[in-house]
Amino acid sequence: MNEAHLKALRCPQCGKNLQLNGGFTSSEEIVDGKISCEKGHTWDITNRIPSLVYPQIRKEDAKWIAEYDEMAEKYDELVEQYNEFLGVNLMEERSNFSQFIPIEGPVRIIDVSIGTAANFMALYDSFKKQMGRFKLHGMDLSTGMLKVSQRKIAEMDFDVSLTYGSVFNPPYCSSHRGNQYFL
Ligand SMILES: C[S@@+](CC[C@H](N)C(=O)[O-])C[C@H]1O[C@@H](n2cnc3c(N)ncnc32)[C@H](O)[C@@H]1O
Ligand SMILES: [Zn+2]
Repeated sequence: MNEAHLKALRCPQCGKNLQLNGGFTSSEEIVDGKISCEKGHTWDITNRIPSLVYPQIRKEDAKWIAEYDEMAEKYDELVEQYNEFLGVNLMEERSNFSQFIPIEGPVRIIDVSIGTAANFMALYDSFKKQMGRFKLHGMDLSTGMLKVSQRKIAEMDFDVSLTYGSVFNPPYCSSHRGNQYFL
């Protein structure tokens, strides 16, 4: 993670801003480390992804997340099979959301259950040469899905700031000014 990613986040326990323990040098990418708020709530960064889940995942939810972890590597293949079975093209359907994105200017988009990053791949299909004006964030509660997303995004020429977090308490600042969209 980098400084811009951290600035978009908040402590999921108290809502305060977060700082990297030890501080950043300019445009540094942190692979493993710790971030804390002024109250001392401390969170891990593992393989560039900050872990900001609070409160802990309940047992009932953990069961579902374990299923997503397990199917993560095969998820895109399963969606393909599902598309064929239903006779639909989900990527085409996804590209419809591009009509809600302003045609110019900076935009921040947070995909709160990013899965395998399919929505951002669809965004790329629609906006290829303009990806630079988007600040893209992806969150998920499945580390398996985040791993697949991270690998797919690394092969693209745009970046997405990935965060391990829950839609029940998204760890994002609400103070952002300008165009912001939640998928
Ligand atoms: C059906 S998949 C959809 C993924 C993606 N949005 C897409 O359209 O392909 C649902 C996703 O939600 C994630 N998820 C489930 N519960 C979540 C929660 N509480 N917070 C964040 N993500 C969650 C799962 O790990 C999974 O990646
Ligand atoms: Zn805190």
